[in-house]
Amino acid sequence: AKAAPFAHAMPVLGAMKPAASHSGRSPRSGRTVMTDVYSMRQHKARVEIVKGLKSTVFTYAGCFPGPMIKANRGHEVVLEHHNELDNPTCTHLHGGRVPSKYDGLPMDVVGKGGHYTYRYPNKQRAASLWYHDHSHGTEAENVYMGLYGVYLISDEEERRLPLPKGQYDLPLVIRDARIEADGKLSFARPIDCPHMLVNGKERPYFKVAARKYRLRLYNVSINRNIKLRFADGAEFVQIATDCGLLEGPVVRDEIELVGAERAEIIVDFSRYRVGSSIVLENTAALKERPEIMRFDIVREAKDRSRIPDRLAEFPSLPKPSREREFIMTSDPTFLINGKSYDPKRVDVETTLGSHELWRIKNIDSPGHHKPGYFIHHSFHTHLAQFRVIHRNESPVGPGEAGWKDTVSVPPGESVCIAVSWSGYAGEYVYHCHHLGHSSAGQMGRVDVKPR
Ligand code: C2O
Repeated sequence: AKAAPFAHAMPVLGAMKPAASHSGRSPRSGRTVMTDVYSMRQHKARVEIVKGLKSTVFTYAGCFPGPMIKANRGHEVVLEHHNELDNPTCTHLHGGRVPSKYDGLPMDVVGKGGHYTYRYPNKQRAASLWYHDHSHGTEAENVYMGLYGVYLISDEEERRLPLPKGQYDLPLVIRDARIEADGKLSFARPIDCPHMLVNGKERPYFKVAARKYRLRLYNVSINRNIKLRFADGAEFVQIATDCGLLEGPVVRDEIELVGAERAEIIVDFSRYRVGSSIVLENTAALKERPEIMRFDIVREAKDRSRIPDRLAEFPSLPKPSREREFIMTSDPTFLINGKSYDPKRVDVETTLGSHELWRIKNIDSPGHHKPGYFIHHSFHTHLAQFRVIHRNESPVGPGEAGWKDTVSVPPGESVCIAVSWSGYAGEYVYHCHHLGHSSAGQMGRVDVKPR
């Protein structure tokens, strides 16, 4: 469908209310644990993505994107999912440190009429996570059709900082899509996806005050990278990566996000006059127009927020006990170390508490092209968070030097990450987060043995 840009207001994602909250004593530690219980039905719904058209999408609880969950560090979240779709689903908390049976592994699916209860301990630092479908072989299509939502964890370290809060702290969930002239959302190759959505609307506008905002940027596209930049080249300040705050703020004017990557930025709209507008663009646009959304500066507002020079304390990285290598290829199909995912085959066996150096190489040459697809890969680990040590043997830039769970691996490049296997023993996976690639098998199994 042809659409005029900035035709609708960007929805602000609302936090879901727990169905119940209770506290109890943990049998393990004897300490009191607070639990929030949520329940979601997964079902189809008709929504307006392009102005004037209705599209059928998959939803969590009727919302597109799914409802936002706000969790607190150390408080447990119990999430009951009821599958009322025709296809099998499972739900993974991306970036979450979760016991294996609640991780939403590719084979742990339930069919129509089934339900699954996930328990998330949230014993990890504040970060912008998300949840999404992970059903083996169909995760790309299910996520594309709408099975994704924002999951925020907050903690004391973060709340103490004088960063913009409340209505000035907003997730922007960005993705591509193909909407046909009759409104149908069709599952298509990235090159055929001309529509860019923010929080479920095609190229929306958003009214802001002339002050600082904290924007939590998500790329939930299943097969492509985006590169965000303001049309006037204005600088902004990056404060966080996938797994939370950076050690200190980083000034930039452009930020690239592969599928599933997140970054948090502070944008100061007080540089613009009330009554003016500024467009956020994707400089990595393919055939589509570059604009992603427009911010309209509509009023003055008080602003006591500021960006401290120090945001977080990082512990020093322990010495790795071993190194492993992962070769990612696209031809003839998407593989890691020449293998396609087999849930019964253990590709990596490690031990709880171990620290390892993982070298990930994308050996497809930059000139190589698989029609309609990207040979750009990314690498995502379940359970473990990591730090990017170097890219092509050079230290990474400050914007990539925080805690991460997904890293970009462009053609011909090699990336070295320090991975810490902490949390829980059990079965997990790692994979390319271009979900078209993981659906095709670019995924491995890692078993974490108890110490
Ligand atoms: Cu975001 Cu294995 O996934």
